[in-house]
Amino acid sequence: MGSSGAFHSNGVSMILKVARLGHPVIRTPARPVPVEEIATHDFQKVLDDMVETMHEYLGVGLAGPQVHLSLQVAVLEVQGHPRYPDMPSVPLTYLINPKVTVLEDATVEEWEGCLSIPEMRGLVPRFSKVRVQALGRNAEPLDFVAADFHARVIQHETDHLNGEVYLDRMRDMRTLAHLAEWQRYVLPALERKG
Ligand code: NI
Repeated sequence: MGSSGAFHSNGVSMILKVARLGHPVIRTPARPVPVEEIATHDFQKVLDDMVETMHEYLGVGLAGPQVHLSLQVAVLEVQGHPRYPDMPSVPLTYLINPKVTVLEDATVEEWEGCLSIPEMRGLVPRFSKVRVQALGRNAEPLDFVAADFHARVIQHETDHLNGEVYLDRMRDMRTLAHLAEWQRYVLPALERKG
C-alpha cells in the first residue's frame, strides 16, 4: 500500500496484445472479478497494463476481453483526444463488474470504431443516458449517471464484457466504412455540417 492507501502495482506497465474480432475471447461473455482479487498485485498490474495499452493505441476505452482477459473490467479515458478533439473529457475510470441501467430510451447515432475491429467506422445508436454501478480500482463502489459521449463509451465497453461489439448494434450496415475512406468521404460532410 502507498501512503495514499490506494491499491497499486509496482508501476512498470506493459502494452498488451489486442484481440481482434474473430478471436473467440471477443465473443465470450466475461466472468465477474472476485472482489478479493481486486487488491492483488496481479490484478492491479492488469489495470496498469490496460491503461498503457489504451493510450498506446489511442483508444478512449478498453475492455478485458480485448486484451485476452475474459474478466468484467474496463478502463476509459477521454482527454484532448486527437480522434475526438471536440468531445467532453472523461477522467480515467476503472469499471469492475459494471452494471448499466438505461435511464433514457431515446437513442442517438454517432460514429464508432473499435481497437478489435481496426481501421473501420460505423454509425451506432446508443442510449443517451445511463446509470453505471461498478467497483473502482480500489474496490470502492461507483454509482454515477453518464450522458451523451460518456454514456456511449460506457455502452461500447460494457458490450465487450457481454461478448458484443458495435457491429451488433448498427441499424444500417451500409454505413460501415474503412477508416481511410471514412476520412475521405464521410468526415468532410460531417465537418461541413459542423
Ligand atoms: Ni471496442
